[in-house]
Parts: sequence; C-alpha cells; structure tokens
Amino acid sequence: MIELLENHKLVLSPRAYATQGKEITVPGDKSISHRALMLGSIAEGETIIRGLLLGEDPRSTAHCFSAMGAEISPLNSDFVRIKGIGLGNLQEPNNILDAGNSGTTLRLMLGILASHTGRFFAITGDDSLRARPMLRVVDPLRRMGATIWGRENGAKAPLAVMGQKLHPIHYISPIASAQVKSAILLAGLLTSGETIVTEPEQSRDHSERMLKAFGADVRVDRDSHTVILKGGNRLQGQEVIVPGDISSAAFWLVAGSIVPNSEILIKNVGVNPTRTGVLEVLRAMGANLTLENEREITGEPIADLRVKTAPLKGCEIGGSLIPRLIDELPVLAVAAACAEGRTVIRDAEELRVKESDRIAATVQGLRAMGAEVIEHPDGMEIFGGRPLVGTTIDSYNDHRIAMSFAIAGLVAQKHPTAIERADCVTISYPSFIPTLQFLYGDSPSS
Ligand code: S3P
Repeated sequence: MIELLENHKLVLSPRAYATQGKEITVPGDKSISHRALMLGSIAEGETIIRGLLLGEDPRSTAHCFSAMGAEISPLNSDFVRIKGIGLGNLQEPNNILDAGNSGTTLRLMLGILASHTGRFFAITGDDSLRARPMLRVVDPLRRMGATIWGRENGAKAPLAVMGQKLHPIHYISPIASAQVKSAILLAGLLTSGETIVTEPEQSRDHSERMLKAFGADVRVDRDSHTVILKGGNRLQGQEVIVPGDISSAAFWLVAGSIVPNSEILIKNVGVNPTRTGVLEVLRAMGANLTLENEREITGEPIADLRVKTAPLKGCEIGGSLIPRLIDELPVLAVAAACAEGRTVIRDAEELRVKESDRIAATVQGLRAMGAEVIEHPDGMEIFGGRPLVGTTIDSYNDHRIAMSFAIAGLVAQKHPTAIERADCVTISYPSFIPTLQFLYGDSPSS
C-alpha cells in the first residue's frame, strides 16, 4: 500500500511491488519552465508556453514577474499566454518579491533586475532559500556595476537591488552552475558589448538555447565552455513547448531498474546532452534503458525512455559528469545502495547547498535504511547489496530527497517506509504520488 497521510507522511508498506506495461509522462522541465516564463515576460509581444511545469517553483517565478507588470494568463500545463513587457521595462513592484523555495527564480531574476536602471527591488524566499549562497551571482553582478544589498554583505537573501546601467564583463566562473551563467547572461542583455561567461565544466544550456530562439545574439564555444552574449538585441515572444523533465523521469528510471518485475515507458522526456548524465550512469551500472522516438521540439531534443528491471553494479561518478546529473544524485545513490559493489560519488560539494544539504540527507536516509555509506565532504561511498529496511525518513522538506526515498521504499523490507513532510514534492513534481500509486499501487486508478 502507498498512501499520503494527513500529517504529510508518505507511507509505503513492505511488499513485492511490481509494474508492467504502463506508460507515463512526467511534468514539464523545471529549468525550461522558469526560463520560458522569464523570457516571455521581458520579451516584446506574445509568448505561448505549452507543457509548463505547474510546480511551486515556476509558480514563484510567475508571481514575481506578474508583480512587475508582465501579463501572464492563469497557469495551465496545456497553454499559458504571456504578454511581454519588453526589455528593460519591468516595473518597480509595490511589495517584496517572493522566490519561495526556488534558487533558479531568485538567482536568474537578480541578473534581470540589476540592469533595470533607477528601479528598486527587494527579494526574499523561504527558510531554505534564505540559507543558500547568493554571492556566486551577487559578486559577478557587482563587477558589472550592480548595486545589491543583502544579509552578510549580499551573501544571503533577503536581497535588495537598485537597478543600474551595467557594463559587460568576461566572468571566469569558479563553479559550473547554470544559475550563475544565466544570471550574468541575462544581466548582459541590456549592456552594450559582449558579456562572456566561461565555466570550468559545461552546465545545462537551456538559457543559451532559449535566448537564441527569442532573438538574443548568443554564441557558444563548446570546447572552452564559454558563452558570449552581445547586448542590445530586442527579444521577441515565441512559442515554447516544454519537454518532460529528465530530473523527474530519473525517479522512474531508478524504480524501473531496482524494483523486480518492472517495465515503464516514460514519454516525451527532454534529453538535452547537458542533462543526460543520469542515463550514462545508469547504463554504466547495467540498467536496461532504451531511447525511442528521438526527435527535437523548439530547440530541445526529446525521446521516450523505456526501462526494465536489471541487476545493477556500482560505478564511479565525478568530474564533468556532475553538473550533468547534479539533481539526480540522491536517487542515483538509492540505485547504488541496491547495486552490487561500491559506488563512489565525488566532486559533488554543490549538493550541500541545494534545497537541503543533499549529501547529509542522502547519507542519513540510506544509513537509516541499513545501507553502508561513508560520507565525504564532496560526496559519498556506497557499498551496495545489503537489503534496505523500511523506517522513518526525514525529507528535510526537500522535494528530491522525499522522492528519492519513496523509490527506496519500493524495495525496502520488514517495516513500512514513512517519508516525513512528503508534501514538498509539489515544488517540482505535484503528481509524483499519484504516479507512484498508478505504477506501483494496488489498483490502476489509485
Ligand atoms: C538549475 C541549475 C542547477 C540545478 C537546479 C536548476 C537551473 O543549479 O541544480 O535545480 O535551472 O539553472 P546550479 O546552477 O546551482 O548548479
């Protein structure tokens, strides 16, 4: 039995779960949804978004941009219409902007607001977001001439911005972060000259792709992980079709691999190469994964993903792979606990500053379920193969931790698995629990 209790605990009883012959879709990609809402708001004319993620994070983005004058129709996954306000025309909001739990909302928006000359903006977020590091975007924006104040000299939200005329810079980023890269590129839109960002490794490139589609002058040098944006072009509203989120599909790729007698077809998933590290790692672990019906829509590659149960073996995950699967590491750690042999995750210190400290939360949860795990500052070592045992898991109110341990609960033995504060899945995947019940619950409609 799989049920969400009134106290927000998600409980999975220990039993032999299985799923055969079912097809699902996953909600729209979170990163692309944010960018479509933002670019649609600052472009001229109409933007139509199909397949928008209706999670709490994109809702935060939509609220913020509506508060600054963009006309955004009620959010609906079939169709959202935005009447853009035009570059540089966001209005000063009459209240504090609330980014909620969403790092992407806050960091990308900061880049846009910093260049709105003469206007004042205050931005905050929830407990988790107010604890996350902001200097990674505040520092380079200040180098462009931005005026930003905040707690700990701008390291933490709440932040306040007094818009300025900015100048372009070449920023050599110490971290591979699409949020940092995107914030700087968005700030560069209103400068005259070339804003250049070089990253140590390639991070997701949805901003570059969408900015180009909206008419920005963007060039990419893949070899040096460098993006060059020439400011001054106007953005023109577009139709954006948002593919399914591979970070949400990852839960079913792992479930379909580790739960005996599983086969799942996940349709219309975004398979942008900057996001497909999870497919490479699962394949290296021995997963039975196939990509079908590969195609491209509005500049993003998509495919249907089929997964069948397979015996997994441990592997090493580090280096340039990390930014290509950063959000999937908690569920990959669950896969590793069910695999034969040792898995090493390294170079992933960024996980400690996500919605929770995901290294600590993952290690703690896996250990509570009986797995042998060593914690490292930048990752963990997992000695797979011990059967997992059901217990109570603290999600730390982090959507990806809650969903990862729900998948672990499908193979846990002896006792029920109870995920606390599981309602946080609505951040990125509001239909996660109904889909879990559809695939592995008692009745097809439950
Ligand atoms: C995101 C970038 C990643 C990722 C986050 C979404 C984005 O963060 O973890 O969930 O949409 O740009 P970083 O840029 O901090 O690596």
